[in-house]
Amino acid sequence: MTLSGKHILLIVAGGIAAYKSLDLIRQLRAQGADVTPVLTRAGAQFVTPLSLSALAGRKVYSDLFDLTDEAEMGHIQLSRSADLIVVAPATANIMAQMAQGAASDLASTLLLATDTPVMMAPAMNVRMWDHPATQRNLQQLLADGVLCVGPNSGDMACGEYGSGRMAEPAEILAAVAAHFGPKPLLGRRVLVTSGPTREAIDPVRYISNHSSGAQGAAVAAALRDLGAVVEFVTGPADVPPPHGAVVHKVQSAQDMHDQVMALLPVDAAVFTAAVADWRVKSAAAQKMKKTGKELPVLEFTENPDILAAVSQLPVRQRPRLVVGFAAETENLIDHARAKLRKKGCDWICANDVSPQSGTFGGSDSQIHLVTAQEVETWPHQSKQAAARMLAARMAAALGDR
Ligand code: C5P
Repeated sequence: MTLSGKHILLIVAGGIAAYKSLDLIRQLRAQGADVTPVLTRAGAQFVTPLSLSALAGRKVYSDLFDLTDEAEMGHIQLSRSADLIVVAPATANIMAQMAQGAASDLASTLLLATDTPVMMAPAMNVRMWDHPATQRNLQQLLADGVLCVGPNSGDMACGEYGSGRMAEPAEILAAVAAHFGPKPLLGRRVLVTSGPTREAIDPVRYISNHSSGAQGAAVAAALRDLGAVVEFVTGPADVPPPHGAVVHKVQSAQDMHDQVMALLPVDAAVFTAAVADWRVKSAAAQKMKKTGKELPVLEFTENPDILAAVSQLPVRQRPRLVVGFAAETENLIDHARAKLRKKGCDWICANDVSPQSGTFGGSDSQIHLVTAQEVETWPHQSKQAAARMLAARMAAALGDR
């Protein structure tokens, strides 16, 4: 990765996450980018102009009516001289200004005056993020073509837990690099399944599993970054779907199967969903009642195997590249090879999920890419990094298919 020759205008708005932007400047510059910081009045409550300029090795711009700056470099020129504008942290307030087209200070004026691509890394309290006004602004900004990284879920500085934590500097750096990187999947349509499925017992009860949807979201984001149109078919996952994907929400395995089939044909398909193998044969139409006597007995029937069904379609309907995932606790490679043959897919990403691997529920994984010809062992890395490797391999394979 190199950002050599790229000029980034970094707008630092007023949030506690502003301290992470100092590290972001360091990481961007380490990749060769030039960074010009712009600090909002509220941002200056959290980081000082001096620390920003020391790390950027440049002057910090902070006041719209600084006449010297206006004489040296007008705000329009400042915004247009950049290859990318990054807003990090993007507070609820600056998102609202951007969505409204307000120009009330230097940062918002730059954002309104520019024709340069804009990327934002939202950071705010979970309730502010979840508020309908912020969600409305987010949709408006995405529709306007603003790129969005994060936010992540986790413990927040305010003591609450939830979505609204700014993406880590490394994640923002990866998104910036992807923005400038090649787009070998432009013009390709790729389907990704993700998350768990829910199988109804009655109208209020269901059977499901612990899949968070993290790997699927990472794969979809990596494919999107390479230029693909991503059809993202997801069960009820914890991790939000990636911005920019076409999201199709489903509940049961049968719904997921029907949705996948309706989206064909596609160039490639990746099956990361943890689909329930069985469903209750006849889910009750009304809530089942405690009788006080006998316990209910559930009879199961098999769900469709979506990966196998798609892999075994006639050539004209089958995606040219079909990738499955296999989570195993023992005999990883043998089981993955057997799965590849049985289902008829092209590749299996085999994943060791034994308790000692730490993969299950963790942020890292080690994938072994199993194809008909070979097994390739990838490094132990974040699910995002693994997803980027997979997307790059898929782009290479589709390129010469
Ligand atoms: O057979 P197993 O569940 O281990 O296979 C895992 C792979 O098959 C994953 O890629 C998963 O998304 C896919 N699968 C599917 N439909 C099912 C079961 C699994 O698409 N009913």
